[in-house]
Amino acid sequence: MLEPIVIPATPSNSLLNYELYIYRGDLENQAAPGNKWHKLKHHLCAANQQKAKVIATFAGPYSNHLHAFSNTLKALDEKGVCIVRGELQANLTPTLKDAAKNGVELWPSSRADYRLGVDSLVAAKIQNEYDDVYWVPEGGGGMLGAKGCQEWARDIARQDNGFDAWALAAGTGTTAAGFLSAPEVPFLHVFSALKGAADQQGEIVQLACKLNSANCSDRLRFHSDCHHGGYAKHSEELRDFMKQIAQLNPNLILDPVYTNKALFAIIKAIQSGQWPNRRTLFIHTGGIQGWRGYKDEHNPFLKVCSHSES
Ligand SMILES: Cc1ncc(COP(=O)(O)O)c(C=O)c1O
Repeated sequence: MLEPIVIPATPSNSLLNYELYIYRGDLENQAAPGNKWHKLKHHLCAANQQKAKVIATFAGPYSNHLHAFSNTLKALDEKGVCIVRGELQANLTPTLKDAAKNGVELWPSSRADYRLGVDSLVAAKIQNEYDDVYWVPEGGGGMLGAKGCQEWARDIARQDNGFDAWALAAGTGTTAAGFLSAPEVPFLHVFSALKGAADQQGEIVQLACKLNSANCSDRLRFHSDCHHGGYAKHSEELRDFMKQIAQLNPNLILDPVYTNKALFAIIKAIQSGQWPNRRTLFIHTGGIQGWRGYKDEHNPFLKVCSHSES
């Protein structure tokens, strides 16, 4: 599951100094690829231990987390419930359609109420309706999500650990915290997909330290300037980059929200000779189903992917 990435050539010889590999997390666990199963698994165990009859979570209408949650819960006895950010449109998104088909009950919420999480009005209504509800934080986050990612990092390290640095994309920062807490990860570059996320670095370090009290902060570099206009947005430059990567690496599919931006930032730094590490391992965290929220003409990987991720 480790593959070299072919980097678009530049007039300088800088590429000769670098090796870039990708760990194909997107090819793991078809129901919950990438980081998804790892973030969910301890939550599902906790729900089971608490004998919860209902497992509830929070998600946006194109959420990779919801997609994995519904695929996974389909095979379990517990009922799945999801609070969806924003009103439900008459025409459900493909992700919401899949979730409904998999038996997950969808509860729409206003954006303001959604932000209140388990303290929201809609969460109170769900608590009223059902006994024994276990709440999975948005994106499968929190300590239990990070713990699953720490174990994932240790598994990956067993495959090959001759890298100077690892790199991955962040949303909530849960995956990053788990990886940072794994002593096997030599150095971690984290690329936020969000705009204005500079303060998140401290939260990642704090969560990592809860899992492993050894000081993690000197093994982390947090990059918050690679969002291309904001969460899920694409710049022209990013679109051109994705086309090049798709041509040079025909078996590789990047997702449209996270891995595309992180890899772009790494490759740009490599091309200009500014990347600080010689042998780098990039972690593919999945999310291919997210392309269903974009027009086909904006997806250069379309030739090689079916998008269903199910
Ligand atoms: C494909 C993909 N990559 C990366 C991330 C970021 O993970 P985290 O929220 O743990 O930072 C997410 C969100 O869960 C995701 O869906």
